[in-house]
Amino acid sequence: MQSNRTVTDMNRAVYIETYGCQMNVGDSEVVLSILQKAGYHRTEKMEEADVILVNTCSIRDNAEQRVLGRLEVFRHGKKGRGTVVGVLGCMAERLKEKLLENKAVDLVAGPDAYRDLPRLIDAVSVDGKQINTLLSHEETYADILPVRMDSDGVTAFISIMRGCNNVCSYCIVPYVRGAERSRDPRSILNEARCLIEAGYREISLLGQNVDSYRWVNPEDATDTVSFAQLLERVALLDESVRIRFATSHPKDMKDEVLFTMARHANICKHIHLPVQSGSDAQLALMNRKYTREGYLERVAKIREILPGCAITTDVIVGFCDESEEDFRQTVSLMEEVSYDGAFMFQYSERPGTKASRTMKDNVPPEVKTARLNEIIALQNRHSLKNNEAYVGRTVEVLIEGTSKRSKDQLFGRTDTNKTCVFPAAGHRPGETVRVKVLSCTSATLISEITE
Ligand code: 5AD
Ligand code: SF4
Repeated sequence: MQSNRTVTDMNRAVYIETYGCQMNVGDSEVVLSILQKAGYHRTEKMEEADVILVNTCSIRDNAEQRVLGRLEVFRHGKKGRGTVVGVLGCMAERLKEKLLENKAVDLVAGPDAYRDLPRLIDAVSVDGKQINTLLSHEETYADILPVRMDSDGVTAFISIMRGCNNVCSYCIVPYVRGAERSRDPRSILNEARCLIEAGYREISLLGQNVDSYRWVNPEDATDTVSFAQLLERVALLDESVRIRFATSHPKDMKDEVLFTMARHANICKHIHLPVQSGSDAQLALMNRKYTREGYLERVAKIREILPGCAITTDVIVGFCDESEEDFRQTVSLMEEVSYDGAFMFQYSERPGTKASRTMKDNVPPEVKTARLNEIIALQNRHSLKNNEAYVGRTVEVLIEGTSKRSKDQLFGRTDTNKTCVFPAAGHRPGETVRVKVLSCTSATLISEITE
C-alpha cells in the first residue's frame, strides 16, 4: 500500500549511511547541509525516511560488497512506500549506470554532484531513475557549512582539499574522486572558527595528500598558501584547541611542516605516513615515487625535529609480483621504524587502475593472508612495546567520551593519538586532564586522572 506522503512534501526525512574514510564522513555532512537547505531533515530510522542515501567506498572489493549487501536491505525497506534510494560517493563514480541496473537504486550521484541532489531526488518521482557522475576541476563545497553528524561535540574534521593527482598503480581514488583541488583557506579558517565557537576542542584537517595542499588566489597569483602555512593559521586561531591532520605523503612531506608542528604545542605530535611496502621493487611497481631509503630519511627527520612524535602507517601485502624477499623487506622496515600503529591490507585489484591494466594479481590468496597475519602480529608487538614506554608517565588527554564498557570510565587521546581509559572522577568530555598511565594493552593506556 502506498503511504500518503510523497517526496514532494516539505520537510522530508533523509536517512544516510556512510562507508569508507573520514573524507566520506565529511562529504555526508556536506550532503546533509545541502539537503537541509532544500527542506529535508535527517532521520536515524530508515523506516521513516523518504530518501535513503548510502555514501560509498571503492577502495577494496570488500568495501563494495558490503554496500551491495546494504542495497538489498534498502530494497526490502522501501517496498511500496515510494522511498527514493540513492548511491553516492566513490562507488557511484566507479560503477555509474551499472548501479542503476540494481533494482534498489533510484539515483546515482558522484562526489562532485552533491549540489544537484535536491533536483535529482525530485526528478526521480517524475522521470524515474537519475544519475549525475560528472567530476569537476573546481568543486570544493567551500561555501557549504557541513551539518555535523554523530558528533561527540569535542572532535571534528575539515576537508581541506578534494581529489588526488598521484597515480599509485593500485589505487582507485584518482578515478573516483577526480583531480586534486585545494579549498580556499578563508573558508577553511571560517569553518574552524565556527567549530571552535561551537565548543569543539580538536580539529582534524583532511586530504588525500595534505602535503600537496596549495591554494593560489584567483585574483592574485602571487598570493599562495602552502599546507605548512595553512596549518599554522589554523593552529593560531585558538591555542587551546588541538589540531591534527592526515594523510601525509612520504614523497611530499616537507621539513617546514615538521618545524610548524614543533613551534605549536597545540598541533598534535602524530604523523600518518603510509609506506605501503618496504621493497624498492614494489614501491616502483606501485608508483609511489620514493624509495625505502627516502622513506626512512623522512622518518629520521620526524624523529630529529619532533622527538616522541607518533608515526603510523598503511601497508599493503600481496601486491603484484610481491616475492618472499619483497615481503621480508616490508617486515624489516616495520621492525626498523617500530610504528605506533598501522592499517594493514591485502592487495585487492581495482578495475581500471594501472595495476589492473598492466600487471598480474599473482600472489595466491593464501599467501596474502599469511603475510597479512604475520605483519598484524608484528604490529601488535610494536604497538604494545610503544605503549609500554608510556607506563608510569603522566600525559595530557583530551576527554572525548564515556567508555563503551562502563559509564564510570572516560576515554580520550594523548596528542600522540594514544587512547587512554580512566575513571571519570567527576570530569566530562571536552575537558583536558592529566592522567598517569598505570598499565597498557596494545590498543589502550589504562590510566587515572592526577590532580
Ligand atoms: N588494495 C588494498 N589496499 C589498498 N589501499 C589503497 N588501494 C588499495 C587496494 N587496491 C590501501 C592503501 C591506502 C589505504 C587508504 O588503503 O594502504 O593507504
Ligand atoms: Fe575514501 Fe578512497 Fe574509500 Fe573513496 S575510495 S571513500 S576516497 S577510502
